[in-house]
Amino acid sequence: MSVGRTVSIVGTGSYVPERVVTNDDLAALVDTSDEWIYSRTGMKERRICAEDQATSDLGAAAARAALANAGVAAAEIDLLIVATLSPDMFFPSTACFVQDQIGAVNAFCYDLGAACSGFLYAIENARAQIACGAVETALVVGAEKMSAFLDWDDRSTCILFGDGAGAAVMRASDSGRGVMPAVMGSDGSLADLLWTPGGGSRNPISHEMVDRKEHFIRMQGRDVFKHAVTRMGDAVMAALEQNDVAVDEVSCFIPHQANIRIIDAIAKRLGVEDRMFSNVEKYANTSSAALAIALDEAAREGVLKAGDLAVLTVFGSGFTWGANVLEWGG
Ligand code: UT7
Repeated sequence: MSVGRTVSIVGTGSYVPERVVTNDDLAALVDTSDEWIYSRTGMKERRICAEDQATSDLGAAAARAALANAGVAAAEIDLLIVATLSPDMFFPSTACFVQDQIGAVNAFCYDLGAACSGFLYAIENARAQIACGAVETALVVGAEKMSAFLDWDDRSTCILFGDGAGAAVMRASDSGRGVMPAVMGSDGSLADLLWTPGGGSRNPISHEMVDRKEHFIRMQGRDVFKHAVTRMGDAVMAALEQNDVAVDEVSCFIPHQANIRIIDAIAKRLGVEDRMFSNVEKYANTSSAALAIALDEAAREGVLKAGDLAVLTVFGSGFTWGANVLEWGG
């Protein structure tokens, strides 16, 4: 199924803000408890940005770490994609701000909007461009300052998210199977189950819109939960089949980190409870950064070793979803 050159991830990095906000800290803000949050989501704490930090600052820190890990200079990057739903501003792209901070002077840069699925979409986007020879070296970043878009009076959403960023450097490779083509899908008919309804061209910024708090994230949690389990499970099966890989050959499954109960349900369905990676306890849901941070941690902690096969899977607003299979270090 793969067309063109083999493409590998040659380095990863991540960055989370210093400030830790625990469930007890949130219980002082809204009517919730550590017990409710932990039992419903598996989250214990999350990182929240300093006021003067923007999404590109997080992305640039993660990007620098990934470049150092890869031994690649910023000037070698041809393509820089930032996946985010919390850009520094509408335009220019957050990718351009990251470019400027890290000195990726030879890159063309753009943002990718696929909400929580963005990092996997960006990996696939870069993979295809490297595979066909359009690009040699790509830097993909998932970065979010979710805290800027949360209603801190809404206990059903503000407890769920955190800030952070992760990044990966990708290049053509002459060994192993590398990053295999992804399976991805979208269903725009379900957009209103998870969205920020105000602030764009449909519902522009106005005092009334802000008074109605439509510039904050809104979610129908139960519906999103069900779709996330089904879509990620199906996507993983389809990606394995498409690339002729058996479930038993996979050493590590790295899913979007939105809720430990979603992760457990997928693991149970696939029969891979012993190989599922999660760090949702430490960072909560960092949207497009979640997979990027998890991938970096799995690599740094030695969960992923050279030659291992891993599966990445995501689900997010849109709805959007996807999965891919990769041979680590190959
Ligand atoms: O990243 C993109 C994908 N996002 C997701 O995948 C999130 C998917 N959804 C979820 O993770 C879960 O649906 C939640 C964690 C958001 C909610 O868990 P739930 O088990 O589905 O709870 P619920 O929304 O059905 O709410 C149950 C009860 C409600 O009270 P009543 O109506 O039963 O009296 C809520 O008002 O829990 C209440 N509740 C809370 N109570 C204490 C909602 N939020 C809180 C809270 N603390 N923070």
